[in-house]
Amino acid sequence: FIYDNSKQGSLAIAQTIAALITSKQQESKPCVLGLATGSSPKLVYAELVRMHKEEGLSFRNVITFNLDEYYPIDADALQSYKRFMYTHLFNHVDMVASNIHIPDGSIPKEEVKSHCAAYEALIEQSGGIDLQILGIGNNGHIGFNEPGSTLFSKTRLITLDNSTRLANSFEFTNMSEVPRLAITMGISTILKAKKIVLMAWGPLKAPVVQQAVEGPVTDYVPASLLQQHDDVQFIMDTAAATEL
Ligand code: GLP
Repeated sequence: FIYDNSKQGSLAIAQTIAALITSKQQESKPCVLGLATGSSPKLVYAELVRMHKEEGLSFRNVITFNLDEYYPIDADALQSYKRFMYTHLFNHVDMVASNIHIPDGSIPKEEVKSHCAAYEALIEQSGGIDLQILGIGNNGHIGFNEPGSTLFSKTRLITLDNSTRLANSFEFTNMSEVPRLAITMGISTILKAKKIVLMAWGPLKAPVVQQAVEGPVTDYVPASLLQQHDDVQFIMDTAAATEL
């Protein structure tokens, strides 16, 4: 789906999310959302906040699981994805605090494995993710599943590619401050979502969007693995669609 600009595409995604939340409310069921960080979803969250404030969209039945978090990182660090989510969404809507789940980048290393297993189990217990929102890295990563992540990967600790650290270094004082590791949902975790929406804005994403959509299904472009899922939409602006 190609929109004239990221604003229009973001409004469409926010509407899809709001419609799902409302239909689940009507069935008295929870709505389980998989959420992403980065610059791509910012306008989506801004629109959801507007819908909450101006149109009374309630998040009381919403359960969220975030894709990833740097490791190690303090929960209140300016660059933490936890802080990002509270700043852009959770502080402004009526979420139940205990329904918010974000991988914890502040735990000791020996606890990471059990934390990741518990994260997977919690997603299952909640009934599975109804809708997973994704951005895409310039190297094709989804969440922090860097090239080489397989179809079978689960929530785990991963080493970030240097290109990813460089792309994200603007958030930190310098490159050496960018964590070398992250906790991310795996490709298999993402593919278990009932519906997936990936968004891509701007000309820098055009080559990787082309590879993910039209290229072979390969671990080298993790987003291409989404071709295996039967309900996935790529939503982009015209600039990100120029190489299709
Ligand atoms: C980050 C995140 C991803 C995100 C991607 C693209 O490193 N871990 O979840 O989708 O890179 O970021 P952006 O939306 O800022 O282009």
